[in-house]
Amino acid sequence: MTRRWLKERRSEHYYRLAKKENLRSRAAFKLKQLNEKYNIIKKGDRVLDIGSAPGGWLLAIKDIVGGKGLVVGVDIQPIREIEGVHFILGDITDNGILDEIVKASSEFDVVTSDCSPNVSGNWELDHARQIYLAEKSLEKAIKVLIKGGSFIVKVFQGEFFREFIEKIRRYFSKVIITKPEASRRSSAEVYVIGLNFRGEGE
Ligand SMILES: C[S@@+](CC[C@H](N)C(=O)[O-])C[C@H]1O[C@@H](n2cnc3c(N)ncnc32)[C@H](O)[C@@H]1O
Repeated sequence: MTRRWLKERRSEHYYRLAKKENLRSRAAFKLKQLNEKYNIIKKGDRVLDIGSAPGGWLLAIKDIVGGKGLVVGVDIQPIREIEGVHFILGDITDNGILDEIVKASSEFDVVTSDCSPNVSGNWELDHARQIYLAEKSLEKAIKVLIKGGSFIVKVFQGEFFREFIEKIRRYFSKVIITKPEASRRSSAEVYVIGLNFRGEGE
């Protein structure tokens, strides 16, 4: 078995599962695996999902929080409507986006961000752009999270990674860096989880 063969088999596996479970994206498995392991999103939670198109995470989150929860998504790309999900078509790097989010809810239990830029193939540039999206997600998260709340963010590893982790540590009592099984081993992405939000001024 070559590594390429194994890689293709794993991709196929998640693709087929995503289709079977009507999940819109393979990405949904990453969130499901993270939540199964760390139990971050719970029934009844209010969740803001940044970078949510085509909606795989939104569907998975909606499933977990149930009818009493709240799910708000933001993306620069439109999505096919999901019943019970409030979707904002907007750019997380825009200053006005926070007002739009707060109109939907001023408080969230969990903020998730799976943002990726259009990758150019120039790794340093892609890393810098992606970290910028992660930083902008953190900036919004600290404005809307309740104390004790959680943050999940995708990060491409690279030059600015450590600095970003240090920033997250300022706001959360516990920080976990992890890579779910559904994330391609060859990709430099990891997921950073901030638990127990201490508040904006801490
Ligand atoms: C990997 S996809 C997210 C997949 C999603 N989690 C799912 O399960 O369907 C990354 C998303 O980040 C979005 N994105 C990139 N830049 C953004 C920005 N400035 N503001 C909001 N979303 C952005 C992209 O449009 C893209 O839909």
